[in-house]
Amino acid sequence: MAKAALTERLADPSHLPNEKHIQLYKTWAKGGAGMLLSGNILIDERYLESAGNVVAHGLSPEDPFKKWTKTVTDTNTHFWAQLNHAGRQSTIFSTRRPVSASDVQLKKMGLFAKPRPLLEPEIEDIINRFVKTTVFCRRVGFTGVQFHAAHGYLLSQFLSPKTNLRTDKWGGTIENRARLLLDTVAKARKAIGHEFPISVKLNSADFQKGGFEEQDALYVIKELEKRGVDLLEISGGTYEEVTFFTQKGVKKSTQEREAYFLDFAKDVRRESQIPIMVTGGFRTLEFCNKVLENKELDIVGFGRPFLLHENFAAGFLDGSLEKVVDPTIKAPIKAYYDTAVAGFYDYQIERLANGKALNLKYSGGRSTLRFTKNEMWKGLKNKINM
Ligand SMILES: Cc1cc2nc3c(=O)[nH]c(=O)nc-3n(C[C@H](O)[C@H](O)[C@H](O)COP(=O)(O)O)c2cc1C
Repeated sequence: MAKAALTERLADPSHLPNEKHIQLYKTWAKGGAGMLLSGNILIDERYLESAGNVVAHGLSPEDPFKKWTKTVTDTNTHFWAQLNHAGRQSTIFSTRRPVSASDVQLKKMGLFAKPRPLLEPEIEDIINRFVKTTVFCRRVGFTGVQFHAAHGYLLSQFLSPKTNLRTDKWGGTIENRARLLLDTVAKARKAIGHEFPISVKLNSADFQKGGFEEQDALYVIKELEKRGVDLLEISGGTYEEVTFFTQKGVKKSTQEREAYFLDFAKDVRRESQIPIMVTGGFRTLEFCNKVLENKELDIVGFGRPFLLHENFAAGFLDGSLEKVVDPTIKAPIKAYYDTAVAGFYDYQIERLANGKALNLKYSGGRSTLRFTKNEMWKGLKNKINM
């Protein structure tokens, strides 16, 4: 059992982990899951996923990270850092000049500026940042890293033909679109050696016409396997189609199963030996045990269940909790649904981080307002990348 990455949005403008991170992970670590993944840690503070992100690079102060990792590793639990670059999915509260593979703008409520295509030396710089941050993560006590190549962030923007229109060696064929991710993995492996686990979170598909598809994903997975990736986490969707929350775009037959990316996991199993974690939709103990017994996957990943029940992990592991039920979150208007959902879970994270009990009665309206206010307010305190 693993806790999948859940962005914490708890950092102040220093972008360092603090007492809130420690309290939050203390709560999660005592549940008994084998591994916790951190929320996405950004490798460049100019392109954040959220105003309250943790940022790490080769020269970040080590102590705040060491305190954070010790909280988890002292309980004999693995703690892997998820590393990310938001690319075009960085809001205007973080940057007015986002970067991406190409200049394809994300059109969502006017929140994202048109990105500038990265120059080749900048792409090399991003690879170096991922590598340096990986080495830093090992130094400060993380027990592995995961590159976030799913959900439409920069690595995923390069993979998708919808957002990558380049005609140089970084675009066009899947071999070229995958180059940024594959070079990052290869260089990180070279820098870190073979004893330190590297994982990749990858979309099975973007669930959009003309986007990254399952055949592309299978190619990438085989190449990742050749480069010694220790764990593949399968997910799906982008900000345009948030499949990882909603299952929208997933085949009907698949939706009927509890976890919506399992069909794809079967294809991966057939074509590779790579250890698989699937995240998204696991809610009953019986179903989780069944897929583990069937060897459909190696690790069951959970996101929201960790925010819906204070003793979720311990309860599932000792059998005293059989099921987790998702609350119905109603947005004030349909366009704000994603914000209401993100805001609702963000509020639960903050409660746990403050040592409080979860409050599942918090309304979708308040979630939307709180989330928007926080992003704007915290964003103003950060240095906006103009
Ligand atoms: C509040 C929240 C924050 C999330 N943050 C991240 C993140 O930082 N990185 C990531 O890869 N996925 C993130 N996700 C997606 C989850 O890791 C997971 O893929 C998704 O919630 C589906 O799993 P579930 O049905 O078990 O919740 C987030 C999800 C939620 C609800």
